[in-house]
Amino acid sequence: MRLNDHAVVITGAGGGIGRAAAVAFAADGAAVIAADLADKADAVAEEIRRAGGRAVAVSADVSHSTGMSALAARSVQEFGGLHVLVTCAGLGGAGLLLEQDEREWTRVIDVNLNGTYRAIRAALPQMMAQRRGRIITIASILGKMGGYGFVSAYVASKHGVVGLTRALASELGSQGFPGITVNAICPGYVRAGMGVAMQATKAGPMSGAEIFERYYKRLVPQRRMIEAEEIAHAAVFLALPESAGITGQALNVDGGFFMS
Ligand SMILES: NC(=O)c1ccc[n+]([C@@H]2O[C@H](COP(=O)([O-])OP(=O)(O)OC[C@H]3O[C@@H](n4cnc5c(N)ncnc54)[C@H](O)[C@@H]3O)[C@@H](O)[C@H]2O)c1
Repeated sequence: MRLNDHAVVITGAGGGIGRAAAVAFAADGAAVIAADLADKADAVAEEIRRAGGRAVAVSADVSHSTGMSALAARSVQEFGGLHVLVTCAGLGGAGLLLEQDEREWTRVIDVNLNGTYRAIRAALPQMMAQRRGRIITIASILGKMGGYGFVSAYVASKHGVVGLTRALASELGSQGFPGITVNAICPGYVRAGMGVAMQATKAGPMSGAEIFERYYKRLVPQRRMIEAEEIAHAAVFLALPESAGITGQALNVDGGFFMS
């Protein structure tokens, strides 16, 4: 158990990648605050406890700063600190830019980018007091490239998440907090959550798995979707003492898609 003395807060923990991250951190000994809308994280917290791990489910909306502050406080109250923050909460929001109204654009930016900011903003004071912490944002390879249409709000939000990750890593490192690292994971097409959900395309609604098979598979050197557990294990790696020198990075876990 490498993370016994770690309390981990995970937003979007009821989703495909969030659930896998919660399970992986708990399996490595960490105490997990599994946060999501309403009761969406209850099942994963229960699953972890049944397996002998430590987890509490919390209802928390990343659209509200007060909810994020309460989340950080809950981690300190339940588990004596807040050592790792993993921001998985996110929305897809596919559609052509001119066909989406401004509210849809704003909602995607508000959850994906501002929500990541709010979670970090709430967790940082505790991490600074501890002089240690790991912030792991779940961005996307679409945080580095333009995509293939229908995803402008999402792409803009994920570029923002990568930018925030880099800027904050720089700021903390140079302002006397080298013990707090900030890194992004940029998944490619994942066989879970929004990676398999129905999406708008030029040819009509299609499942993520079908979109992958039709349009992306041939562009991915490994010719496969990524498993949610692979994203989770990358997050665990970024929380280990051995990765203390890694900060401000945006790690692609994408089967080689972006590189190629
Ligand atoms: N699945 C993929 O292929 C893929 C690829 C690249 C990046 N990602 C990113 O990974 C993250 C997790 O996605 P996923 O695939 O597990 O999708 P998912 O839809 O299963 O999970 C997203 C979770 O975020 C929660 N959420 C949404 N709005 C929220 C809010 N306002 N407050 C709190 N929680 C909220 C949802 O309830 C859901 O449980 C997202 O940020 C997504 O952009 C996913």
